[in-house]
Amino acid sequence: MKLSRTRLDRFVSLHTDIAKNSIRLLIAQKKITINGLLAHSANQTITPFDQVIVAEQSLPHKIARYLLFNKPKGVVSATCDDKNKTVLDLINYPYKNELHIAGRLDFNTTGLMLLSNDGFWTRNLSLPELCIQKHYRVTTADPITEQYRTQFLEGIAFDFEGITTKPAVLTIISSHQAELALTEGRYHQVKRMFGFFNNTVTQLHRFAIGPLQLPANLAQGDYIELTQQQAYSLLKPVT
Ligand code: URA
Repeated sequence: MKLSRTRLDRFVSLHTDIAKNSIRLLIAQKKITINGLLAHSANQTITPFDQVIVAEQSLPHKIARYLLFNKPKGVVSATCDDKNKTVLDLINYPYKNELHIAGRLDFNTTGLMLLSNDGFWTRNLSLPELCIQKHYRVTTADPITEQYRTQFLEGIAFDFEGITTKPAVLTIISSHQAELALTEGRYHQVKRMFGFFNNTVTQLHRFAIGPLQLPANLAQGDYIELTQQQAYSLLKPVT
């Protein structure tokens, strides 16, 4: 998941026979571009996904991949598992072995899951300061009352982690159904929040992350590819 970053001069000298100390001259001569833009400094950092062109020679780079997957029930959010089918077992995608999961769902939780080979993007998705909302539809064993709404906004103490959950917005749909918007992803967070009221979550479905909605016509077990622009739109702070 770690995305290695390399200085431009090191990157170019690794992939060509150009000496590191000649890079500044090539930059001054406007002979190096990074993703179509002129390089401006020898110590600019390069990720494996950046397309670097030096004097019309394109240096090797990886293609960033982003998948939006509709997770069915009864599947483990992992890349391998001895006992159960994993999300990756279901995905018929030529580059699936490059992918990692960005934000797991429990075995019986359904819905929107993101996968990528871009570790920088994945790490940023979980940055607390970006406050990216994850939207869940929750079905419970017992009725949901107005008190839940107030309590979830105030936060619930999670003793194990020694934290109080961030304000979460609950929209009650019916006696046993609600939508919950969270900006963090603690272990079994939704179930534990309802557990505060001794109410069991019987069905849990994630239908959106930030502006990305699970498409209504995407069957369980299927995926769509996102463009890099769509993927990075998630990282834009909400204005
Ligand atoms: N919260 C849970 O309890 N389970 C999930 O799968 C996701 C969020």
